[in-house]
Amino acid sequence: MKILVTGGLGFIGSHTVVELLEKNYEVVIIDNLSNSDEKVLEGIKQITAKEVQFEKIDLKDRMAVADFFTKHSDIQGVIHFAASKAVGESAENPLLYYENNLSSLVYLLKELLLLGKANFIFSSSCTVYGEADQVPITEEAEIKPALSPYGNTKQIGEEIIKDSCKAHPNLNAISLRYFNPIGAHPSALIGELPLGVPQNLVPFITQTAVGLRSELSVFGDDYPTEDGTCIRDYIYVVDLAKAHVKALERLMNQKASTNYEVFNLGTGKGSSVLDVIRSFERISEQKLPYRIASRREGDVVKAFADTKKANEELQWSSETSLDEALLTALQWEKKIKK
Ligand code: UD1
Repeated sequence: MKILVTGGLGFIGSHTVVELLEKNYEVVIIDNLSNSDEKVLEGIKQITAKEVQFEKIDLKDRMAVADFFTKHSDIQGVIHFAASKAVGESAENPLLYYENNLSSLVYLLKELLLLGKANFIFSSSCTVYGEADQVPITEEAEIKPALSPYGNTKQIGEEIIKDSCKAHPNLNAISLRYFNPIGAHPSALIGELPLGVPQNLVPFITQTAVGLRSELSVFGDDYPTEDGTCIRDYIYVVDLAKAHVKALERLMNQKASTNYEVFNLGTGKGSSVLDVIRSFERISEQKLPYRIASRREGDVVKAFADTKKANEELQWSSETSLDEALLTALQWEKKIKK
């Protein structure tokens, strides 16, 4: 079974490639290396002791995508991670985000339709819910106006897939809405490689812990939550990767209830920023220097998943605690600092 993983050298992509190889799938990676490194291939090979094919292709290059599928017409499934993901950058350069995230999706789907039958997993985000009316957030929650062009590309991406599935019964797709992915492979051979100053909480914490940053800013402690800081659902990246394999197998084994489905992927547990800091201090046995700063624009107060649908229909649930996930993140940070 040959599976295409686009963006397979990125954070979630590389962990998913490992899970696929460990389940004996043949994997072909497409990546344009815009926010990843070819060295990740070595990490994947070391962990799995398996071969993986890699093609440096930019999915905006329609001809290159067409050539790829001529060569690999035996692809059985696609997991599509390749996309730009920096919220701030998307506000500064929206057209870059619309072009990159949406044209690549359209070109991929067009080529897949030419193959006749397609199983397609899309990397979506809980950002589509915005500030949800209720937590935990179910898949039925309203899709709120996007807070950034990045978030909008995820909403439009889902719509593109949904409309295509309606028009083309041979296209089977699942959108996976991730909450906050964190951590690294337990081998510390692959992990997150943020470009420049990390925008996300956990890489900022681990960089502070190893001395690359002097202190963490906690963005706001006057939110209407128990300790005043925002609540998120931090999901371990390896658990998340496993859910992709389950979703793909659901499509390949024709277990899906319709040809387009959506699943939340989270732990179901909300943690505040201060909870994460406390958990990190516990596992690292060190004090983390932090100060309370003003709120960050665009942050929602509370977001955590209702995981019932994924638990029951995908037969997947998160297995790793916040402590364990943070420990892998720290081990990875120490490894890349060397
Ligand atoms: C962010 C993106 C989201 C994207 C996700 C990918 C925004 C507004 N949202 O989600 O669209 O899908 O990353 O992982 O950027 N925090 C601090 N100090 C820091 C960094 C973060 O206090 O230095 C706080 C934030 O205010 C937030 C929490 O930590 O309450 C988590 O932040 P982050 O890791 O950036 O994730 P999200 O904002 O949930």
